[in-house]
Amino acid sequence: MLRVRGLSKRFGGVVAASGIDLEVEPGEILAVIGPNGAGKSTLLNLLSGLIRPDAGEITFLGQDLTYAPPEVRTWKGLGRAFQIVQPFPEMTVRENLLVGALYGKPGTPVQTAHRVVEQVLELTGLAPKAETEAGELTLLEDKRLELARALATQPKLLLLDEVMAGLRPAEALEAVALVQRIRTSGVTVLFIEHLMPVVRALADRVVVMDYGQVIAQGSYAEVAAHPKVRQAYLGRSA
Ligand SMILES: Nc1ncnc2c1ncn2[C@@H]1O[C@H](COP(=O)(O)OP(=O)(O)OP(=O)(O)O)[C@@H](O)[C@H]1O
Ligand SMILES: [Mg+2]
Repeated sequence: MLRVRGLSKRFGGVVAASGIDLEVEPGEILAVIGPNGAGKSTLLNLLSGLIRPDAGEITFLGQDLTYAPPEVRTWKGLGRAFQIVQPFPEMTVRENLLVGALYGKPGTPVQTAHRVVEQVLELTGLAPKAETEAGELTLLEDKRLELARALATQPKLLLLDEVMAGLRPAEALEAVALVQRIRTSGVTVLFIEHLMPVVRALADRVVVMDYGQVIAQGSYAEVAAHPKVRQAYLGRSA
């Protein structure tokens, strides 16, 4: 579904991405983990088009999107939810999602957009909050809205950057169930996450980054036992 080859990006002297090779298979849930500053958000920013690579290629559903602007990626089905949630606070949840639905697929008839919004409200459990102004939501509801807004663009592949950050354990469990429902609804998921219990519960496959490189990939158990991965985590946190 997604193929990344040799993706590289430096910021001045910092090599944030260095020759990243990566594949995402349709229907899977893929976790990207790694210590602080490993380059995880940079990878997502490159994939969603917020920044441009110095080298490498991004192919999505057979099309080269390496230098495509962000909105074109959204139209092709590459959706993104942000760590820092920025809804339109004075608009209701429903209105926020309508913006996503209309923007995500230009030319979407308003009737269709309303139907998509209805489905997303149900899937994310936000239906009871549909007429609430986004500025009035709790942190947990905010995170749901951010996920819902991304879903309203009808992505085929959804990119998530630490959407569980700041949630309490019980809330994180709910969010895990939500991501599972999203996958069941037919959306492939690539997520960045620091909470290892979440990674273990959700990921079919784990990619580990350090210093801008992919240092290991495999099942949770495989990467957890990998010497390079242990070194990367112990080397920084110790
Ligand atoms: N826009 C930028 N300008 C300059 N340096 C940047 C920029 N974005 C990221 N970097 C640097 O690139 C490196 C990788 O950062 P990135 O945010 O991708 O890491 P991360 O794995 O997402 O870390 P975290 O777990 O803390 O979110 C870091 O050294 C960071 O300071
Ligand atoms: Mg990050």
